Amino acid sequence: MKICNTISDMRAASRVARLDGKRLGFVPTMGALHEGHVSLVRAAKAKCDVVAVSIFLNPLQFGPDEDLAKYPRTFERDRDLLEKEAVDVLFAPTPEEMYPAGAVTYVTVEGLSEKLCGKSRPGHFRGVTTVVAKLFHIVEPDLAFFGQKDAAQATIIRRMVRDLNLPVEIIVGPIVREPDGLAMSSRNAYLSPQQRKSALVLNRSLTAVKNRYDKGERNAPTLIEAGKQVLAQEPAVRLDYFEIVDPATLDLVQELTSTSLVAVAAFVGNTRLIDNILLS
Ligand code: PAJ
Repeated sequence: MKICNTISDMRAASRVARLDGKRLGFVPTMGALHEGHVSLVRAAKAKCDVVAVSIFLNPLQFGPDEDLAKYPRTFERDRDLLEKEAVDVLFAPTPEEMYPAGAVTYVTVEGLSEKLCGKSRPGHFRGVTTVVAKLFHIVEPDLAFFGQKDAAQATIIRRMVRDLNLPVEIIVGPIVREPDGLAMSSRNAYLSPQQRKSALVLNRSLTAVKNRYDKGERNAPTLIEAGKQVLAQEPAVRLDYFEIVDPATLDLVQELTSTSLVAVAAFVGNTRLIDNILLS
């Protein structure tokens, strides 16, 4: 596995990789890798000739009171894991390499970026789209792989790619869960054993909504109420949002007539967790 720490090294590796018409797949991450990330790497390996992964803890997508400082950093472990998965190129730049002093240019997907997590994390999605646009320009992948775990992020990136005519195909992989249903997340490492148990209520609330939906309920406020009732049974969990939206626009829906996204965000202690399910 070739490790590139500079943009010029990464560009050179990408140029070599794409010689002879080879398909280059790209999986952007912030490190602290788990099976969710690995599933994207394997999807990339299956569809592409050459696979690049980035590990970059992007300061621009963290708010001033968020967990950038304590976000798990496990570079050696991540590198070994990617090596085992036969990843071809690892791009691991420093913040200084990615953001030269005085950088003031951003990519914003307006409107969509203020929905769901964008409401409670102002500036978050602007940070995501700016770094992903930069990574796409540096890596120049044919395909890029994202997880349904961050459903709004995937929608916003698809819109950015469409609006800016970026020559990359976006593939979204399913949510990988722990055996007990908890969606895998680098932030699960923050949870105490007790909090880890409480966190299961996120997935339980989504399952409750799906059960009502499967029995024929199509009214969004009724379905949301059912989900919120389940969450309320866990006093250690503080709800941020529970919404049912159109997955393409992130607009709230009233009646579920086509595929809808049920999305939840909640704090367990100081740890903010998200989860979602698609109903169709
Ligand atoms: P990160 O949280 O490291 O996630 C990297 C990718 O892994 C994202 O596409 C995310 O949706 C996916 N992922 C995380 N948990 C998953 C799970 N349980 N199942 C399936 N996929 C999962 O998302 C980011 O980093 C950043 O915002 C990034 C896109 C790298 C930009 O900085």
